[in-house]
Amino acid sequence: MGTGVRVSVLCALLSAVLCPGVCVQTSLQLDPLVYQEQLLWVGGAQGHVNTFRIPLLSFTPKGSLLAFAEGRKASASDVGAKFIAVRRSTDKGVSWSKTTFIVDDGTQANGLNLGSVVVDEEMGFVILIYSICFYDYQCEPPSTMMVKSIDDGVTWSVPKNLSEHLGVKSFCPGPGLGIQKRIEPKKGRLIVCGHGTIAGDGVFCIYSDDHGEKWENGAALKSIPYNQNKRALDFSPDECQPMEMLDGSIVINVRNQNRYHCRCRIVVRSLDAGETLPVDNLYFDYTLVDPVVAAGALQKEGVLYFTNPSSEEHRVNLTLRWSLTDGKSWENKALQIWPGPSGYSCITTLNSGSAEDRKYIFVIYEKGKKDYFETISFAKIHLYGGKV
Ligand SMILES: *[C@@H]1O[C@H](CO)[C@@H](O)[C@H](O)[C@H]1NC(C)=O
Ligand SMILES: *[C@@H]1O[C@H](CO)[C@@H](O)[C@H](O)[C@H]1NC(C)=O
Repeated sequence: MGTGVRVSVLCALLSAVLCPGVCVQTSLQLDPLVYQEQLLWVGGAQGHVNTFRIPLLSFTPKGSLLAFAEGRKASASDVGAKFIAVRRSTDKGVSWSKTTFIVDDGTQANGLNLGSVVVDEEMGFVILIYSICFYDYQCEPPSTMMVKSIDDGVTWSVPKNLSEHLGVKSFCPGPGLGIQKRIEPKKGRLIVCGHGTIAGDGVFCIYSDDHGEKWENGAALKSIPYNQNKRALDFSPDECQPMEMLDGSIVINVRNQNRYHCRCRIVVRSLDAGETLPVDNLYFDYTLVDPVVAAGALQKEGVLYFTNPSSEEHRVNLTLRWSLTDGKSWENKALQIWPGPSGYSCITTLNSGSAEDRKYIFVIYEKGKKDYFETISFAKIHLYGGKV
């Protein structure tokens, strides 16, 4: 079942009724193309930031785009003090607001780490969940924190400490997007999945059934040996991106930290809205070769999209793949977004149902010439090769 089929039907109808001559294609196929690209952040060039990393991209319920990144103050290191930087676009990425810093951890030796954005479509909220003191280094205890915007991403609440209810443990959401269940089971539930520290690593999900007021601990897919030092090739599922499938299950695409079994992605499915992740529902996706990184994954109208630096060894060659078979296979053709150094990425889309919004997905990624963490770039991808 192809999006192409549906779009061509729509196109045929439109051309018959409204726009003869505009829709020349009769059977449009998916043929993704980078339609527009711009740098949102450049390390060392803005404010008191050394390096921008860990980009997140999400639409608000009103259709604005929000881009987030960690602004690492003193160095490119994962520890250290940081800001959460945000830019906002009300024209789907053509123009962007100046950077605002919505959270500032001061001079922490071990500051904040991003993070997942989760949008509550039912309430119109945007929620950002992040970690502080994740590495348990010169601080304690690790805490899971949340900020919320009820005005389309313009202003943000003061941080709320979710560890008061979830308990204290190193949990770093995402990095990427959380989901709100659109389909049963548990329609309306907010779900955020992330990972633990290297010893206590694994995929862990938290969820909320009351629009983010109270969060519960959900599924855990633990590393082996759990809470012990790891060796090369141990099973250590790490950073992850969940997506809701059309049957209401959740498929999570996971970083394979210690290269257990393959230099490729781990995929695991939850059938109960993020409460369990049985190993029965786990497989290795050999097509999705990976250099051990956080990747982007998205389901849109039954098609899966995946971005990562497509290489077994290095963070280079940022590539978009797509699957018409729920990830059982990937199309042979792939879109190289950037051949050079590239790292973390995140994919989003607007599901408004309008013909215009059906044509695009949006990618944010770490991009550089010498090192992958030099800049954060935003790319608008036209799914039909610019032809509609
Ligand atoms: C968050 O709450 C936990 C549990 O009450 C507490 O131990 C921790 O210090 C709090 N973290 C922050 C940053 O307030
Ligand atoms: C980039 O990735 C694509 C898709 O996996 C692959 O076909 C191509 O060989 C890669 N290029 C390099 C230079 O690694």
